[in-house]
Order: sequence, then structure tokens, then C-alpha cells
Amino acid sequence: MADPVQTGAELASLAAGAAPSALAVPWTDSLGRATILLVDHVDLNRQLIKGILKAGPYRLLEARSQEEAIQVLERENVDLVISEWIVSDWSGRPNSGLEFCRRIKSSRRTHLIPVLIVTSVQGIENEVAGLESGADEFLVKPLQPAVLRTRIRSMLRQKRIVDSLEEAETILFALAQTVERRDKETGNHCQRLAGLSVALGSAIGLPDEDLLALYRGGFLHDIGKVAVPDAILFKQGELNEEEWAVMRSHTWKGEEICRPMHSLRPVLPIIRNHHERWDGSGYPDGLKGEDIPLLARILQLADIFDALTSQRSYKKALPVDEAIRQLRHEAELGWRDPELVSVFREVVRLPSLQWKAGMAAAPHAAEPLSAEQESMRESLLRMSQQLMK
Ligand SMILES: [Fe+2]
Repeated sequence: MADPVQTGAELASLAAGAAPSALAVPWTDSLGRATILLVDHVDLNRQLIKGILKAGPYRLLEARSQEEAIQVLERENVDLVISEWIVSDWSGRPNSGLEFCRRIKSSRRTHLIPVLIVTSVQGIENEVAGLESGADEFLVKPLQPAVLRTRIRSMLRQKRIVDSLEEAETILFALAQTVERRDKETGNHCQRLAGLSVALGSAIGLPDEDLLALYRGGFLHDIGKVAVPDAILFKQGELNEEEWAVMRSHTWKGEEICRPMHSLRPVLPIIRNHHERWDGSGYPDGLKGEDIPLLARILQLADIFDALTSQRSYKKALPVDEAIRQLRHEAELGWRDPELVSVFREVVRLPSLQWKAGMAAAPHAAEPLSAEQESMRESLLRMSQQLMK
């Protein structure tokens, strides 16, 4: 899917806030019509396009200025924007449609909406400038009704494909949350894990693409546990060898579940290798030292730290200093990357992460699910049962 690489600031706000629910945006309304927003300060121009599209299965919205258009985009699920090359700003001053296009393409909420620029300004340079600003298509006036209609149909077809891919990813994240909710004691473990991993990744200067992978890995790393029966996952006491084999399989099964999604490729090494050990005694591949993907090593430290500092029915939450001592001990035993543990020790003391430490120490209460989420959870559970067969 066309997934944006969020900026560091956006990731930071994600890490401190909501899960990447990215609820799928419907591409049609309840009557099966795609929603198109017409942006032009000249009434006649909008009326012309409305006339051309009159017989089509479209819900047409209008805006006279960029600001008005942005307001419509904030409250409506728009499938396509048709904008004039020159669009007025809030004060009525003519402004470049290119700037408007950039605004649409730089927002997480609207970046997937295709934009068609309509202009009477001829010239290849303008077209190039328009496409560089993020416009998806460019039409020069006078408009040919048949060409406009064909172009719109094709752009909406593309949008539908993008939406369905986004929906598939949304389902995977929901599946991961279902896995997390099976264990009533872990509360918002994935949310904390995502935040801690991004913080550690930032501290060692990873690029935004890797921070995004870490953030997503926080939610998806244990998705393979959908294939581990409750009898094994929540067994009191020691697992036998056969049960351990099933438990260990959550790593490669999780990778298999996410592999078809192209956008999740950077997350696959985290999912597969987050239980490796520095000395090669981990699973599933027995990788050693630097051969263990860096992102997997980062997420692993955050995972262990969160487990140690979290309260469970069978144990108390360890204080942060005690948890760090434990991680250093594991580094001495040869299990963890010693350099990474040293950086992590500093990172968890950052004031911005103190709330997470507090959150981890408190007993967790998962937020109640909405009716919609509940029904999704049920269908996901059915999927899980299929996967366990
Ligand atoms: Fe795991």
C-alpha cells in the first residue's frame, strides 16, 4: 500500500498517543457513490464540472477556497479532489493550487486522496510542477467531458485499490490487538512497547523509516500468537518440549501472516527475530551478535523492560532501576546486545518516558471495545481459529 513515511514528530506523537488503527476510509457512501470535492473560486467552473458529472454515481461537494476545501476534507471522507490551478486562499487572494496540493499530500489523513488539477495554463513546465507538488493527474482546458469522466473513473479505481490495501493492513493491526487482548494482564503493552522502541531508535539516530518499522513492530511483533492455543499461551507452570515448539512458532508464523503486505516488509525481521539472543541461543534462527537485525534487538529490549516493569497476578512490577540491572545482567550472560543496553539505560530515564514507566507499573485495564470493534474482534477470532488448524 502507499504508506507514508511519517516524520519523526508524527511518530513521536503516535508513540505517545493512539494505536495506528488507521480505520479504513470507505470509498463510497451508503448509496454506493464516490465523493468528489470540487475546488474553484469561480462558480461557473464548478457548475460546468457538476454538469459533466451529473449522471455519474458521485456525491459532489464544493469549496470556493483552499481553507474551505481543507475544512471539508477534515469532516468528510473524500475519494477525489478536482482543483483549479489557481485557488483562492482564505482572504480571497488567488493562490497556487500547487501549495494546496502539497497540503493535501502532507497530511496523514488526506495523503491518499487523488488530486486532479484542472488548468487553462498550458505548458510542460506547469504540468511537471503540478505533478511534483503531488497532483496525480493534470487536465488542460477546454475540458472534454468524455476525457474528464474517463480520467475520474480511472483515478477512483486506483483509490479503491489503495483503500482495500489499507483495509487489509488495518485488519492485521486489529488482529494484533486481538492477540494482545487475549491476555488481560498485559493492558496496553503494545502501545508502551511501540513508544519505548521508537525512543531507543531515535536515541541511536535511526532514520524515520526505521522508526516507523519499530512503531509498527510494537503492535505486530507477537501477531503469530493467534496460532498459539490458550492452553499453551496461558499454561500455569512449565511448558513441555512440544508446547515450547508451538510457542516458538509464533515468530515465523507472524512473519508469514504479514509477509503478503508489501508495506510491512521492514517490520518482518522484527516479527521473526525478536526472540534471538546475542550469543546465538535464541530462536527461531539462532542468529548471533550483529547478525540479529538491529530493529529486532531494539524491540526485544523494550519488550523485556516492559514485562519486568509491569505488574502481573503472579509478580510485582520491578522499579525501573531494578529492571535495568536485570537487563545488564542478561547482557553479561551474553543474551543481549551490551552497547544497546547501555543506551537503553539512559533512554528510559528521559523525562518524556516517565509516564510510560508509571503506566507500566500500574495494573492495566484495557479500554472497552466499541460495538464495531467487538464484531471485528469476533470475526478475527474466527480467523485465528482457522489459523490454528
Ligand atoms: Fe514474542
